[in-house]
Amino acid sequence: MQQQNAQAFTLTGGRVIDPASGRDELADVAVEGGRIARVRPPGAPLLGEEVSVAGLVVCPGLVDIHVHLRQPGFEHKETIATGTRAAIAGGFTTVCCMPNTNPPLDRPQRIAQLQQTIAQQAWCHVYVLGAATVDDRREELTDFAALLEAGCPSITDDAAPLQSTEQMQEALQKLAGTSRPFMAHLEDEELSGDGVINAGAVSRQLQVPGQDSRSEVAALRRWAQAATSVEQARLHLLHVSAAETVAEVRALRASNIFSQLSMETAPHYFCLTEEAVLESGADAKVNPPLRTEHDRRAILQALVDGDIQIIATDHAPHTPQEKAQGLIDAPPGLVGLEICLGVALTHLFHTRLLSLRDIIAKMTYNPANLLGLPAGTLNSGAPADITIIDPHKQWVVDPNRFYSKGRNTPFAGHKLTGQVWGTIKATLKQRL
Ligand code: DOR
Repeated sequence: MQQQNAQAFTLTGGRVIDPASGRDELADVAVEGGRIARVRPPGAPLLGEEVSVAGLVVCPGLVDIHVHLRQPGFEHKETIATGTRAAIAGGFTTVCCMPNTNPPLDRPQRIAQLQQTIAQQAWCHVYVLGAATVDDRREELTDFAALLEAGCPSITDDAAPLQSTEQMQEALQKLAGTSRPFMAHLEDEELSGDGVINAGAVSRQLQVPGQDSRSEVAALRRWAQAATSVEQARLHLLHVSAAETVAEVRALRASNIFSQLSMETAPHYFCLTEEAVLESGADAKVNPPLRTEHDRRAILQALVDGDIQIIATDHAPHTPQEKAQGLIDAPPGLVGLEICLGVALTHLFHTRLLSLRDIIAKMTYNPANLLGLPAGTLNSGAPADITIIDPHKQWVVDPNRFYSKGRNTPFAGHKLTGQVWGTIKATLKQRL
C-alpha cells in the first residue's frame, strides 16, 4: 500500500487488464506526476524506478459506488479515515458514500462540511451521494440540482426508500435533464413489513418475521409506473437481491420505459443464501435480506449475462455490540470493502463463470461510467489509481484484521482465492 506523488515509476511484467480500453496483455505501466504516463509492451524504456509486478494483474483502481462511511454522526461504527483505509486495503481507490448519516447528507452545506473532512482524512477518493428527502424523512424531496452542484455524483433513497409513485415521478423528473440516474433502494414497506430476514424456510425455522422477496419487485413496478410520464427517466437499482427483480428488469428494458436502467448487486447476494443466518446470526442480517438458492442463482446468471453491470459492496459497518442484540434488534448491514475482490474472484473467476476482465469491468469502468466519475481506466493521462491483484493467493477472512471498525460479516472464516497485492492512489491537486 503506498501513496504516490509526483515521482515516476514503472510497473513491469504484469498482466494489464483495462476494460475501458479493451486492453488485456502483458505490459508495463509508467506513472509520472500522479498520472498514467503510458502503457507499453514489455521491454520499452522505463520511466523512473522499476517495480516488478510479474505474475500479478494490474488494473484500474477499483470503484465502489455503494459504501456507508457513517460520518457524520455514527463515528462509533466507522469514520472517513477507517472506512477509506479499509477501501484501500480492499483495492478500492474511489468510493461513493451513502447519505444516511446523522444528520443526513441532504443539503449543500452538509456536503461541503463532509468534503472538507474527506480532503483531510480520506485515504481514497470519496464522492458523497445526496439524500433524496429532507432529513431522510421521506416527506419532501431535497434540492437535487443544488446537491449535484455541490459535487454529489447523484441522489439516492438508500435506507429510506421512497414509497409513493408521486415522489418517485418527481425524483425521476428532477434528474431528467442530467445524465445521472436516481439510485433506488427497492423496498415496498407494506411487503417487507417488520421482516428481519428473508421470508421463507429459515424465518419459519427461527420463528422470526420474514421479509417477502416480492417487496423488491413491487417497488420496481412502482418506479416503472412513475417513469411512464417522465421523458429521460434514468434509474439505478441498488443491491439487487431477488430473481423476480432481475426478470422484471429484463422486461422493462425491452419496453423502453426507462431511458437507462442499471443494476448492481453485492457479493453476499451471489455467494450466500438465507441459510447463512443459521450460522452467522445477525452478522448475516442485511437489507435486502439474503434470499434463496433460486435467487442466488438468478443473480449469478444476471452477472454472467451482463444484465447486472456493477458489483458494489454495500459496506455497512455496525458495532459488535449492536450486532450482538440478536436477529430482531440488530441493525441490518454487512461490511464488504476488504473482502469484495477476494469473494468475487473466488466465486466468479475461479468457478469459471466470469473472466477477470468482466469482473474488473464491473468493479471499475462500469460503476465509474454510470456516475461520470474520473476513475476506472488506465488510459494515458488518467489519475494513477491502480490496483495490483494476486489472483491465486489463498487466504482466510479474519475480521479482526480489518481496517474497518466493522466486524460484521458472514464471510468470517471463509477461504478465498485472490487478493489485493497493492493499491496505488493518485495524489493530484486537480482531478480530471
Ligand atoms: O443492510 C443495510 N444496511 N441496508 C441498507 O439499506 C442500509 C444499510 C445501513 O445503513 O446499515
